Amino acid sequence: MREISLHILDIAENAIRAGASRIGIEVEADRQSDTLTVTVRDDGCGMPPEILAGVKDPFVTTRTERRVGLGLPLLAANCEATGGSLDVQSRPGGGTTVKAVFGLSHIDRPPMGALHETIRALAAGNVDRRVTLRVRSEKGEFEFDSDTVKAALDGVPLSSPPVAEWLKEHLQEGIAGALELD
Ligand SMILES: Nc1ncnc2c1ncn2[C@@H]1O[C@H](COP(=O)(O)OP(=O)(O)OP(=O)(O)O)[C@@H](O)[C@H]1O
Ligand SMILES: [Mg+2]
Repeated sequence: MREISLHILDIAENAIRAGASRIGIEVEADRQSDTLTVTVRDDGCGMPPEILAGVKDPFVTTRTERRVGLGLPLLAANCEATGGSLDVQSRPGGGTTVKAVFGLSHIDRPPMGALHETIRALAAGNVDRRVTLRVRSEKGEFEFDSDTVKAALDGVPLSSPPVAEWLKEHLQEGIAGALELD
């Protein structure tokens, strides 16, 4: 079973390939509706309708190195296996929003995995992009903005060992305080 944090990394990689300068990630657990919703918004090149229409089909890809794209079809299948669904909104020049809904308590819901590591890697590996995270549940709320951290660091790279270590702890604690999942 694939971890949700790896799906998020996958969607973010699509956004990076689309030339996004901003990637916004939201994770919300709602016990009332028994859903876990992951939303990833980007301001990249977007997709024409013919690509968008087939985006859950593994044979739709604009990659040239191979002819199948698996990121979104796999995510769609994992959402649907838990009674949820995948929704992708996009238009050329208008960016893309991917919204994945999982059944929160469904036995087949993939575990979250190391969300802090996904966010840390994205922020440190994409210094020219703004990466934001917002996590919400009945337990609490946590927000992270790579631009705020970069400004405070005053030129010290996010990948330098002491900063990477601090980032890991900051994200781990913040996420744990706002989300109680396996
Ligand atoms: N955020 C996005 N912005 C623009 N186009 C996108 C975005 N996400 C997906 N696409 C388009 O949809 C296609 C399918 O995406 P998907 O993630 O399923 O496969 P892939 O990225 O091509 O391959 P894989 O994920 O297996 O490495 C992409 O090739 C791309 O053309
Ligand atoms: Mg992909």
